[in-house]
Amino acid sequence: MKMKPVKWVVEDPKKKNVFWPSEELKKRAWVNDESVYAEAEKDPVAWWGKLAKEGITWFKDWTVTYKENPPFYQWFVGGKLNICYNAVDRHITSWKRNKAAIIWEPEPLNEQPRVLTFQDLYREVCKFANVLKGLGIKKGDRVGIYLPMIPEVQIAMLACARIGAVHSVVFSAFSGQSLRDRMIDAEAKVLVTADGYYRRGKPVNLKENADIGAEGTKIKDVIVVKRLGTPVNWVEGRDHWWHELMEKADLNCEPEVMDSEDMLFILYTSGTTGKPKGIEHHVGGYAVQAYWTTKWDFDLHDEDLFWCTADIGWITGHTYNCYGPLMNGVTSLIYEGAPDFPGPDRWWQIIEKYAVTVFYTAPTAIRMFMRLGDEYVKKHDLSSLRILGTVGEPINEDAWLWYFNTVGGGRCPIIDTWWQTETGATLINSLPGIGPFIPTVAGRPFPGTRFAILTEDGKPTNIGEGGFLVQKSPFAPGMLRTVYGDPEKFKQQYFGVYGERIYYTSDGAYIFDQLGNIRITGRVDDVMKVAGHRLSTAEVENAVAQHPAVAECAVVAMPHDIKGEVPVAFVALKAGFKGSLQLEDEIKKKVTEIIGPTARPEKVVLVDDLPKTRSGKIMRRILKALTANQPIGDISTLMNPESVQTLKERIGYKGPT
Ligand code: PRX
Repeated sequence: MKMKPVKWVVEDPKKKNVFWPSEELKKRAWVNDESVYAEAEKDPVAWWGKLAKEGITWFKDWTVTYKENPPFYQWFVGGKLNICYNAVDRHITSWKRNKAAIIWEPEPLNEQPRVLTFQDLYREVCKFANVLKGLGIKKGDRVGIYLPMIPEVQIAMLACARIGAVHSVVFSAFSGQSLRDRMIDAEAKVLVTADGYYRRGKPVNLKENADIGAEGTKIKDVIVVKRLGTPVNWVEGRDHWWHELMEKADLNCEPEVMDSEDMLFILYTSGTTGKPKGIEHHVGGYAVQAYWTTKWDFDLHDEDLFWCTADIGWITGHTYNCYGPLMNGVTSLIYEGAPDFPGPDRWWQIIEKYAVTVFYTAPTAIRMFMRLGDEYVKKHDLSSLRILGTVGEPINEDAWLWYFNTVGGGRCPIIDTWWQTETGATLINSLPGIGPFIPTVAGRPFPGTRFAILTEDGKPTNIGEGGFLVQKSPFAPGMLRTVYGDPEKFKQQYFGVYGERIYYTSDGAYIFDQLGNIRITGRVDDVMKVAGHRLSTAEVENAVAQHPAVAECAVVAMPHDIKGEVPVAFVALKAGFKGSLQLEDEIKKKVTEIIGPTARPEKVVLVDDLPKTRSGKIMRRILKALTANQPIGDISTLMNPESVQTLKERIGYKGPT
């Protein structure tokens, strides 16, 4: 579809690379008046209460909008709703009944896309909800979802939400062992998976991993979507084909009346320890923030087509592929495969084919396409694009400008959204109708939220002065409520630094300008963002240590031009093992087997000795500096300072000596 190209942004004539919404964009935007920030700031609780009433259909009103018992807090207490009802049912009584809810693009070019209208989605969700009920799943039970990017993933999530079951989606590129750890922690009773999916033209056998994942857990039933039709291992009595169960399922299923503070889902994410944490999100607050951030950040209207490229196994997929757009009655596009398959222009071809209007992706992908060359973008008509989004890691200026100029044709604002698995939905970004849009600067906190950037001893920082990003009470409705099964961890991790009314984000940041725009500088803990994927160095270390040749290891994040950061493993071998390229490769493979390919170390550096303090602690700070070619700093406190020289040679250190 050829669209009339509209200039949605204008450049600030006084400042290089500062952009503002054009009159056209302001006119169209849901929010275009600065005063929204001041109004919300007066009384954030009342503000969110107003938004909750307007955006969400409640079965029963709440009695208390916000209640705190620091560090625990609740929103819309006593309110009753169902998020699936909000995402599906309420559209089928309007003209939206026949509108596309989900458009699915398969990876193989010779396969047909699938389009599900809201009515289709309603039917499939009700049927699958009945399938789950038929297997004995009740409100509060946990259901594991380990599916590729196919519409069944949204159907399964919504079906859980409909009957009050708690879903826990695990990224399909995580290994069987990672799946198993999560399923054990969540005590899931049912697992929904597929025989496989296509990746770079090749079928991937997902069922094999699902079988590993189900072993030794409380999973009694495994439901398998037939995506490929390839032969799979089958456990009689435990395994069921999705289509066979669906054939017999009843079409009617009333949505469960959920309390605002009932659990909606658990999503595991990496913290600083080796064990991922189950981040717990509750229905009411999550629904409100997912609804409004989707609508306002991306300025979504009825005719928009929203494509968020995140995998549904991450929080971005949960909120912006599934709940956010569907609650808004906006069409959500999902794509099964690799971004550059069968050619480096696949994504641009998809944007042109469907006339995508709002596109949301990660800096890693932008940098990858930038490297591949402009010609692949220019081959396609991208004039339908109106708004571009980015998320997951800090974006560098070059990538921002390339995205803005080459993909957006200099017309579209870039919404750089900062948030986390814990926050459930976006929190810091410029709004399309207000601006400004500045490369590398996320923007202002969402109206009704309070952030600060503090020094180590808790004092506010000045413009340009780096510090720790924190969120202040009353936070926002979509925040995590706790760590599943581990409230102590929740307290210590998020409220153990500045007290029980200040949420510690683990990100560094600074205030960029007088307006209060915020620039995020990145994690200040041992969490890496590898191609936007969140991993902890401790998790990778645990995996490396499982190789029989490894005596000791330390994993650090090394800067990478495209992926932002990559893990590098420093390994000391056990006596009797000799270093070789083959051994390095085996160690990398071990990590893929235990966590998944996203965690595979870029480099394995075999060493005789790791730099240690006199008390025997590995000095990761030195390893990090070595990989980043930064000053090494003081090594006088090391037990073995000579190890640093050897390491410099091994990794070809180019930093200051
Ligand atoms: O370091 C921040 C980075 O991603 C972390 C959260 O990762 P995850 O829970 O996987 O959620 C990612 C998707 C919401 C944050 O602590 N991050 C996220 N968005 C940005 C960002 N860093 C800089 N700019 C962003 N826009």
